[in-house]
Amino acid sequence: MAVRLFEGEEHAKSYWKYRISPSEELIGKVLQFHTRNKHSASDLAVDVGCGSGQGTLESPAEDLPFPDVSVDLVTAMSAFHWFDHSRFLQEADRVLKPHGSLALLNYTMDIQLSYGDCSETLNQICNEFYAALHPFRHPYLGSSSFILYKKTFESLQYPVKEWHDTFWVRKTVPLSGYMGMVQSFSAFQALLKKDPEEARRLSLNIEQRLMTAMDVTSPETEVIMEVKYFYFLAQKPANDLKFAVSHQGAALLQSYGNTCAQKSDKPKQRGVPTAQQRADTSWHLITDIAAKVMHRPPIK
Ligand SMILES: C[S@@+](CC[C@H](N)C(=O)[O-])C[C@H]1O[C@@H](n2cnc3c(N)ncnc32)[C@H](O)[C@@H]1O
Repeated sequence: MAVRLFEGEEHAKSYWKYRISPSEELIGKVLQFHTRNKHSASDLAVDVGCGSGQGTLESPAEDLPFPDVSVDLVTAMSAFHWFDHSRFLQEADRVLKPHGSLALLNYTMDIQLSYGDCSETLNQICNEFYAALHPFRHPYLGSSSFILYKKTFESLQYPVKEWHDTFWVRKTVPLSGYMGMVQSFSAFQALLKKDPEEARRLSLNIEQRLMTAMDVTSPETEVIMEVKYFYFLAQKPANDLKFAVSHQGAALLQSYGNTCAQKSDKPKQRGVPTAQQRADTSWHLITDIAAKVMHRPPIK
């Protein structure tokens, strides 16, 4: 596993209780894409990094327990950014049947709130919350998972593919539910681990200011929470053009990996490869796969 998080009991509980699920409409988009392009009667869908099952076998994304060419749909919801990206893409390509679909989805951290006529003020306070948590973002993630997903999409050589960068999911929740959702983010959990007092102080301050702006006294007051998803859908081609990442794409993934790895000391302890190892791994995977396609030895 590239980075092990979400395994502490408290974090898992808060995750289960507060994390939003993708809407039926969004799940429908993935299934529509898949059935539109589907060529086999049976269906095996694998959700990788399923967590508590919001999106729904947890096994390492880089070593999926399925035979070659056996899966119809591979999805990863809010999880791909934690994986070893190129190893996961290679695994997804290996297990997918021809015409099988790959769906990678995520949402941005800057959740918006609506309540009466004070939504603008609420969102200013929420933005302060996100800014305070930003320094605790895990270095493996780099500055933006949106960029990672977009670059992965662009480098994926599956000819049938779609990029969607704005899909709002709206849900009515108590204010405490919004607070719980943000507290389940890895950045908040990192702050909680480093400085529990500060994490509590920050949460209480934000919650109190939100309630003051709403002119309410109960955190159980309902607000509309709006979450912006971005995602891509791609269909594995039927021909033997096995993978997936062009040399240009490999370079992009390498440089992204380098950026993340350079910012971080900790991932080394967690088994995340160094910048050089990542570059080497990506390159060797890509060249090995290219060689498989072209039936010749890997480029050294
Ligand atoms: C943010 S949670 C998302 C969970 C769920 N898919 C959802 O939408 O709520 C990320 C999940 O990815 C899992 N994960 C992280 N790295 C992984 C890896 N290399 N292989 C498999 N799962 C991984 C974590 O254990 C966690 O369950």
